[in-house]
Amino acid sequence: MIGRNDECWCGSQKKWKKCHFPQLPSSEKKLPSLDLKKEYFRKYQILIKDEEQINKIRASCQLASKILDAVCKKAQKGVTTLELNDYAHKLHLEAGAIPAPLHYGSPPFPKSICTSLNEVICHGIPNDIPLMDGDIVNIDVTCILDGYYGDNSRMVTIGEISKERQLVVDVSYECLMRSIEILRPGVPVSKIGDVIEDYASSKGCSVVHQFVGHGVGVDFHESPQIPHCRNKSSILLVPGMTFTIEPMINAGVRDAVIDPVTKWIARTKDGRASGQWEHTILITETGHEILTPWTRNP
Ligand code: MF3
Ligand code: CO
Ligand code: CO
Repeated sequence: MIGRNDECWCGSQKKWKKCHFPQLPSSEKKLPSLDLKKEYFRKYQILIKDEEQINKIRASCQLASKILDAVCKKAQKGVTTLELNDYAHKLHLEAGAIPAPLHYGSPPFPKSICTSLNEVICHGIPNDIPLMDGDIVNIDVTCILDGYYGDNSRMVTIGEISKERQLVVDVSYECLMRSIEILRPGVPVSKIGDVIEDYASSKGCSVVHQFVGHGVGVDFHESPQIPHCRNKSSILLVPGMTFTIEPMINAGVRDAVIDPVTKWIARTKDGRASGQWEHTILITETGHEILTPWTRNP
């Protein structure tokens, strides 16, 4: 963790407290120097965004969040995830956007959103099975608007759900929000995993390590990886970084098994429940901005 008397993250070689220290009143807010941008790209392949890119990413994130809200509202008993997918697809097109998951990767992802139920950790594929009482479902929407990406997901619960399912829904939400709270320039990426792992383990849950948060904005999955489990990433956050945090929290073991048929759907190894929520975040001069403005109880 950077201290007041350490060198500032911006490359000025001044002490942090004399330079970009967040509490300092400063009328002139500086974006990272060109040198720092180059350094972050050379060292880590991280794209630090400029004002114009940030505005476009913000617009894409706001749309992704709006579509996510609309789809979550429709996610009720008796509705199929395929119907949710088709509705989300239509909302993208109406807004002049493209659903990023469709045909993404190898083999190409077959649908426009991910719908991950119960023991599915992530990358669930919408199908024609109706949602049932007792289900928990993660809905993950990523849109491309004007070439820029916004990525977010939420959990929806259907009727009365078991204690175990409620636990992973609540713990994964807390993990996300608690890890966002600590974000500001100078914080190492590893701190995110510390906060998440500490909280999840205090509630008897495990943290999935095979899937991570990620830089996002100009591309779907950019550098850096944002591990949700304890890790040693010493990369320091700097203003203009945009990335997701999307902790996947299991009631049982942390291990994921990828479906051999679809090569996408990831399930818990022990079949126990998994929960996940996701925001796209911007690091600002003084802290952070949540770019995907969904709230848990809209
Ligand atoms: N939206 C997911 C994420 O949070 C990625 C989905 S990959 C896809 O990173 F191919 F399934 F779309
Ligand atoms: Co993501
Ligand atoms: Co996502």
